[in-house]
Amino acid sequence: MSKIPPHIIDDIMQASRIEEVIGEFVSLKRAGSNLKGLSPFTDEKTASFVVSPAKQIFKCFSTGKGGTVVSFLMEKEHFSYPEALRWLADKYGVPIPADEPATAEQLAAISERESLYIINDFARDHFKQNLHNSEEGTAIALSYFEERGFRKDIIEKFQLGYCLNTGTDFTKASIAKGYKLDYLEKVGLVKSKDDRQFDFFRGRVMFPIHSVSGRVLGFGGRTLFTDKKIAKYFNSPESIIYNKSEILYGLHYSKGDIIKYDNCFLCEGYTDVISMYQAGIQNVVSSSGTSLTKDQIKLIRRYTQNITILYDGDPAGIKASFRGIDLILEEGMNVKVVLFPEGEDPDSFSKKSSTVELENYIKESTQDFISFKASILLKDSENDPIKRAELIREIVHSVSLIPDQITRTVYMQQISQQFEINEQVISNELIKLRKNVVVKQAPEADFQDISNSPDQQQNQYPEPQVQQDVSYYNEEQLIRIMVKYGTRTMQFDQIDENNQTNLSETNVIEFICHELITDEMVFSHPVYNKIHSLFLDGLSKNEFLSINFLKRLEDQEIVKFVSDIESNEHELSAKWLSNYNIITRSEGDRMSETVMNAIYSFKLSKVEQYINDIRIKMGKSDTMTDELLMDLLAEQMVYEKIKIIFSEKLGRTILR
Ligand code: CTP
Ligand code: MN
Repeated sequence: MSKIPPHIIDDIMQASRIEEVIGEFVSLKRAGSNLKGLSPFTDEKTASFVVSPAKQIFKCFSTGKGGTVVSFLMEKEHFSYPEALRWLADKYGVPIPADEPATAEQLAAISERESLYIINDFARDHFKQNLHNSEEGTAIALSYFEERGFRKDIIEKFQLGYCLNTGTDFTKASIAKGYKLDYLEKVGLVKSKDDRQFDFFRGRVMFPIHSVSGRVLGFGGRTLFTDKKIAKYFNSPESIIYNKSEILYGLHYSKGDIIKYDNCFLCEGYTDVISMYQAGIQNVVSSSGTSLTKDQIKLIRRYTQNITILYDGDPAGIKASFRGIDLILEEGMNVKVVLFPEGEDPDSFSKKSSTVELENYIKESTQDFISFKASILLKDSENDPIKRAELIREIVHSVSLIPDQITRTVYMQQISQQFEINEQVISNELIKLRKNVVVKQAPEADFQDISNSPDQQQNQYPEPQVQQDVSYYNEEQLIRIMVKYGTRTMQFDQIDENNQTNLSETNVIEFICHELITDEMVFSHPVYNKIHSLFLDGLSKNEFLSINFLKRLEDQEIVKFVSDIESNEHELSAKWLSNYNIITRSEGDRMSETVMNAIYSFKLSKVEQYINDIRIKMGKSDTMTDELLMDLLAEQMVYEKIKIIFSEKLGRTILR
């Protein structure tokens, strides 16, 4: 992939709406001028994830992640920088000049993760091609889908395909394309046996499994043979791009309607999702190739608190729905159940009925979990008191999993009424069961105050010592001022050759860079150092970099730092305030003072660090000679003098 020209990057960033893109991953609600939601990066129950449409940045206060829409896509969808830009360009219709085909060298440089994505895209297209344009595909596979009643537009939308039954069609095509056998095997599309390769999915219709943004992570392949000995479905194996327990089939298509209707229908299979969708019920997902997991439920929670389970009414379906209910309740979400007549799944049922009939069936058959469990279990315990007690205990067990006490109490009252049992009795049982739950949950219990939890402080840099902490802090302040106010003009006293003081004017970047050059000082923190170098580069071309320029860079460490500055704009830094008595709110109004303070605080802490280094050297008695000691002492005295000068300058600017 060739490079995207800078002016196109500008166009893409201009056209993109961060709130819209992130809104596809999380349900966002207005909070003042910002939008708020549950963090997609962590498992949280109170919203600490903020998006600013005005600044086009996001900040996750529980993980510390933050940045632009590009940072978000890179983080969440593992896009590379150009991939994220291309995805946005595609979404917002920004044309990108055509690519020259990738050279072998470029292909080799693409990371493993990206290679796997590219292979899956190729496979999806190849299988689609087979379905629509090959003789075998149209005769066997396309006609199969048509027989099942899948509409053309739906087949297209879900990117369904077919892997030819010849055995090596896909393997040959992908090897010819230059893909590494190792990667083809990792995504499970090609299998090797005795040094011979063949198509893992041969003779199967293919259901691509998408990430939330629509990347192909894997496939489900259904056999067209009715032979009972052949597994009905094959599924892609887990790989670095496909973690089954965290993916829901259909979510890419249904997320909008899940938010809109504030409910998610949960089915068992690929075909259920597709048929429901075709019938117009589009807030629907299924777990793919695994039984339902906790992580999948957490994924739904980002969009809604409400799940309706739609399972087959056979014993396996009932068992699975019992399990689903408990998992959902445990996550503190609301669960309802619709059971289809035995032997019917949402797919087969929707094929037999009109959309209205399907909607009505769902409406009329929706049960809360208590009634649902009761109706199933009551069947064989009608007049048997022991079985009846067992049934009630079973239902109370589900209630005991609910984390919120008030909700538990409400359900307890419902059970008491429904089964005509004293509330106190149920309450006692509940308390007994709760003890087990609490013990079970304890090891991974949520911290009440996430901000105090050490693993939330995701610092990429080694924990600095106190000394370093102060100097990083001063470095941060200085670089922050350059980023935030760099292009503003400021006035300063200049001493000319006749020792006359004149009032001069320049801009903040130029002034600070010049001041640091004079004293030969640089930043020791890697990110600040990088930003400083960028400013210096810009200066040499007479360009003063703006905050928006920095936000568009590929280097996400820089983007994160810069957007953190923007998201913290209204938070006064307590340390800054108490150290130098500066009213931070008006730092922008008193530019010169702010800049001078930051520079001298920076310089002062550098000098203190030099002095500290000298002391450490002097302390190393084993290598110390008198001569060396004298040199070090002399050096130290010079720095002590400079320190006094800087302190005075700092003092003066404070008092003025
Ligand atoms: N499944 C699987 N492997 C199997 C059987 C089932 O991964 N051997 C998964 C698939 O995701 C499938 C779901 O479980 O979609 C439900 O299984 P089933 O009801 O048997 O399949 P349907 O999707 O209903 O398929 P069909 O209607 O074509 O029989
Ligand atoms: Mn089915």
